[in-house]
Amino acid sequence: MATTHDDAIQRPPAERRWAAELERLRATDSADRPPGWQLSLVAARRFIIGDPGAGIERKFVGDPSLIDRALVSLATNRGLLLVGEPGTAKSLLSELLAAAVSGDSTLTVQGGAATTEDQIRYGWNYALLVAEGPSERSLVPAPILRGMQRGAVVRFEEITRCPLEVQDSILSILSDRVMAIPELPGESGTVFARDGFNVVATANSRDRGVNEMSAALKRRFNFETVFPIPDFATELALVEAEATALLARSGVRAAPRRDVLEVLVTTFRELRTGVSEHGGPLEGMSSVMSTAEAVSVAHAVGLRGWFLRGEAGDEADVVECLAGTAAKDDADDLARLRRYLEQQVPRKRGRHWRALHDARHALPG
Ligand SMILES: Nc1ncnc2c1ncn2[C@@H]1O[C@H](COP(=O)(O)OP(=O)(O)OP(=O)(O)O)[C@@H](O)[C@H]1O
Ligand SMILES: [Mg+2]
Repeated sequence: MATTHDDAIQRPPAERRWAAELERLRATDSADRPPGWQLSLVAARRFIIGDPGAGIERKFVGDPSLIDRALVSLATNRGLLLVGEPGTAKSLLSELLAAAVSGDSTLTVQGGAATTEDQIRYGWNYALLVAEGPSERSLVPAPILRGMQRGAVVRFEEITRCPLEVQDSILSILSDRVMAIPELPGESGTVFARDGFNVVATANSRDRGVNEMSAALKRRFNFETVFPIPDFATELALVEAEATALLARSGVRAAPRRDVLEVLVTTFRELRTGVSEHGGPLEGMSSVMSTAEAVSVAHAVGLRGWFLRGEAGDEADVVECLAGTAAKDDADDLARLRRYLEQQVPRKRGRHWRALHDARHALPG
């Protein structure tokens, strides 16, 4: 149950958002589980892909065998690397895995060009370091060290965006499961990972890719590719459920309109794949037209409708919101979007497509 305190949190972590489900699963889970795990593999899979009969919500939409392989990887002595196009729920899946296995998804390193080793392994409290020298008190453990001490899954987001030498600082941790802290004397200078520790990393195939990662580090991970949702009905249902939940949290009292969402999801899919719903070719976009983007556009459409006019968002709101998604990293995309609205949309039948076509002038430029 969400507490009053949680109500003010913009996005509670998975283990808080679904605390009741996790508790229920733990209480009824009698299957064998790997050492250090809070759930068996079977129960962890149910948590992630859902079990409507048992009141467990579906959280990740995808191939259940991907979840099985991901969980098995986390039980081995290799890390797990989730690779894929942007917005395919790699981060969400890593969060759900950490919540299921360790009950905590917050041991997270956010990779980026400025990530340093101290943010991964450990740093120092400089006031204490100056006052009393290196000691366990002055040591500030970063997520990897904390995960090793606690026996928990650590998330490493966007690992390939880190400088290569920083990426490689986890090599010996993954292979030997030990971290040396040479500044500390005696036994405290060696930390052995407890059972349950592992690393789940994510990497975006559009950013600096995994091919730049060192061969040594690649060998220490099992790779799993996360694909976009293949079929329309499933993607529509996901966008509807996510947008409905986000709008409710944002204080919007009108549910998103199904016909508007249909238009939105179809538009995203066609512009993502460059293939129309009837199989004909069309001009795709180079911007990311992911499911995650579709959810955030659906959210924005609902916000516009409600807070500007006191009703559910409509097709004109879709056009207004699409411009901000489409023109992000390629100015030609705005022209592509305009051609889509002018040339493809009139070929489609239905009142909502006509409304989308009529709103095409709302595109800027
Ligand atoms: N297969 C899916 N199952 C559930 N939610 C999905 C799925 N695909 C996309 N989503 C939506 O996308 C959101 C998650 O996006 P997330 O940030 O995890 O993607 P990502 O792959 O990490 O993207 P990026 O590469 O930009 O970091 C979810 O909250 C959900 O709304
Ligand atoms: Mg991500």
